Amino acid sequence: MKDTTITLHTAFKVGQVDPRIFGGFLEHMGRAVYEGVYDPDCIHADEDGFRTDVLTALEPLQYTVMRYPGGNFASGYHWLNGIGPRNQRPTMQDLAWQSKEPNQIGTDEYIQLCRRMNWTPMLTVNLGTGTPEEARNWVEYCNSSTGTYYADMRAANGSEPPHGVKLWCLGNEMDGPWQLGHVPADQYAIRAQQAAKMMKDTDPSLELVACGSCAVDLPTYMEWDRHVLEYLGDLADYISLHRYIGNPADDTPDYLAVTNSIDQQIEEMDAVCRYVQGKNRSRKRAYLCFDEWNVWYRARQPEHMDGKGKFAPHLIEEVYNLEDALVVAGFLNSFIRHADVLKIANLAQIVNVIAPILTQGDAMLLQSIYYPLAMYTKRRSGISLQPVVQGPTYEGQTNGQVTYIDTSAILNGDQLHVFATNRNLEDAMTVRINLADRPIVALADAELLTGPDPKAANSYEQPHLIKAQPFQAAEINDGAAIVTLPPLSVAALTFRLVH
Ligand code: AHR
Repeated sequence: MKDTTITLHTAFKVGQVDPRIFGGFLEHMGRAVYEGVYDPDCIHADEDGFRTDVLTALEPLQYTVMRYPGGNFASGYHWLNGIGPRNQRPTMQDLAWQSKEPNQIGTDEYIQLCRRMNWTPMLTVNLGTGTPEEARNWVEYCNSSTGTYYADMRAANGSEPPHGVKLWCLGNEMDGPWQLGHVPADQYAIRAQQAAKMMKDTDPSLELVACGSCAVDLPTYMEWDRHVLEYLGDLADYISLHRYIGNPADDTPDYLAVTNSIDQQIEEMDAVCRYVQGKNRSRKRAYLCFDEWNVWYRARQPEHMDGKGKFAPHLIEEVYNLEDALVVAGFLNSFIRHADVLKIANLAQIVNVIAPILTQGDAMLLQSIYYPLAMYTKRRSGISLQPVVQGPTYEGQTNGQVTYIDTSAILNGDQLHVFATNRNLEDAMTVRINLADRPIVALADAELLTGPDPKAANSYEQPHLIKAQPFQAAEINDGAAIVTLPPLSVAALTFRLVH
């Protein structure tokens, strides 16, 4: 098979990669919070009840922003239930996931966790069953200096200095008929505008994410976004995108070609933002916040989403394999290629619930998708360059034509990071990487993720089947790099450039 060439030039810049595209999402759902990050009965629990094994495993993923407390959960959540002395907090029935919510983790514990993990907090207000005023009160609780009711309540709960939460989501998936308090776009826009105005009146430094379309196959896709953005005007700093991808037809080549569709979703939503900016004759445009994304399709039947009234039920605990890890890399490549318009993204989620990390009692497992996240995030600083890929292609059944090699690249001073996925199921592919105006001098450091077959997955019995390995096999020839990537693999390569 012919070789692939990736051509780059330092002048062909897409934009600075916003580190916030490496965000995560922690929802009060299933075993994400309880038995995930927080489990006072676990042998790994610290004095605050947080699981040190999980937090240590999360560190290499270097999440930037951490969205909380939902998700669908947020649309029925009243934040006042989650503050104050723990033994006085009410246990509530969570209708989003039919679960029991004891509120042992709330705003202050979440902020404590953010500080400890170096996460930037990102809160979702309840625009389902909550009121705009309740949302605004939460901003006062988190961000105002003491001297008023809710800010004093925060101080009484142990935090005199404000929490300083700048990033807020105006509800969650309000276009989805399953959402508590779901309403048509015009009614959501009114709610969101009322909340946004009061929230920014309380703290003008806030950045607000309006609920955008949560699925590309809903009939309201794009029209919802247009209406909401037009109505909110300059109050909206970002519009949200959500996407969960799967391989229900068991067609691996097509599944891996889904990058076409992710690119398309980002570009369509960008088009809506540009259209509304023009129509509103505004100097400001909304940017994109992909605040839920992942692979999720196996644990999607109703029984996976019904907690049957229990505390910390096992919900949507997807087991990930090698092909899923390649799709996760595909999402990240697409995000980097759209660095000019995509500013925030949150992997949904971080532990147990559709997550790279699973727990079972005191044990913990790193899933296949953990590795691309770790490989990319340590190379995330710099400017995204526009790659031109020339090489063999194939046609996905539904996702159309793609090159076998999927890629993105980041220039960081004298370093060039190149990410390359070989979607070929049978053949290794040779890839020539050419930065046209700056010769590559050497391979500084690289990792490779691959495995025995597309369905191979880590398990408690075989925890290291799919794992990133150091990769040295790069040849530097005449200022260009040549690497050979095994079938079904992801490489993250860091090159040194001529000074
Ligand atoms: O991440 C799981 C759920 O998926 C979230 O709660 C919801 O927003 C989405 O539908």
